[in-house]
Amino acid sequence: MRVTIEDIARLAGVSKATVSRVLNNKSEGVGAETRKRVQKIINDHEYKPNLLARGIVTSKTKTLGLILPDITNPFFPELIKAIEDNAHKNGYTVIIGNTDFSLEKEQNYINTFIANRVDGVILTSTVDDNSAIHNKLKKYGVPCVLLDRAMKNMDYDAGVFFDNEYALYISCEYLIKHGNKRIVLISGPPKISTSIERIEGYRMALTQYGLEHNKNLIKYGNFTIDSGYKAIKELHNEGVDFTAVLAANDIMAIGAIKALKEIRYKIPDQIEVIGFDNIDFAEITDPPLSTIQQPTYEMGRKAVEFLLMLMDGKTLNNKHIKLQPRLICRSTTR
Ligand code: RIB
Repeated sequence: MRVTIEDIARLAGVSKATVSRVLNNKSEGVGAETRKRVQKIINDHEYKPNLLARGIVTSKTKTLGLILPDITNPFFPELIKAIEDNAHKNGYTVIIGNTDFSLEKEQNYINTFIANRVDGVILTSTVDDNSAIHNKLKKYGVPCVLLDRAMKNMDYDAGVFFDNEYALYISCEYLIKHGNKRIVLISGPPKISTSIERIEGYRMALTQYGLEHNKNLIKYGNFTIDSGYKAIKELHNEGVDFTAVLAANDIMAIGAIKALKEIRYKIPDQIEVIGFDNIDFAEITDPPLSTIQQPTYEMGRKAVEFLLMLMDGKTLNNKHIKLQPRLICRSTTR
């Protein structure tokens, strides 16, 4: 049940005008003690001004909130392009929230999107488990589509995902069939669904072909160039022997290639490398990167399609889809 300004005034024993002064940080006419009491009630009840009730906005703002973890990663701008293209085509403006891997920023964006009455939210979370804040979207009736990354314990409305397990299975299988037995995996952060699913696919392939699961061959990065670079340097300093590298995204693969070259490895003759995402840069790296194609534009387009249906009150017959990978072989594999 949505808390109103009348409820706050009654609970605080003041007029609606006083509550309004507190909400608008007006100093005149409100004593310090009263202000403190009213503000506590506002916070305790998570009161958000209803811009609609104040006649400031119509029933629809024709805006969508988009929350992403890292817009410096080229995968996400390609996703944004698809979302903005298709939202704009349908008369919607996209407001982008970049969380920089911060749950606090993610929560602030969710609160702001609710307060400003966006008509729907597309979320690629920086965590894998719902926090109380995520379910506020449902509480305030804001449709939410999860994109790319799943979340445990979250009551969301629809999801567009990718078959990460199968993607790592086929890329690892490809390297095994080339005779590689000691294959490094540079994973994304451990508590993100796409990382967990990719590790699972890697392990499924090793099991299928009777190869040892060696924890020393798995390094955790954070989907950045530098973390891919550092993973290879650490393996080298630890004296770990390997003949191939799977990176859970392309920019970690690019960082890994930089380190492999510094260590004077020949790619692909001595070390084969496969990335993940097939960002535009993948075909112009040196050597051009073999990778997994994520249908990034289609994922963004589908997320907008789902959200438009939800905002129009339509029921989705199939509210989860999982798009399929394709292995793109270039010059970092033999
Ligand atoms: O590159 C960033 C990664 O995080 C992508 O592979 C995407 O799947 C997201 O999970």
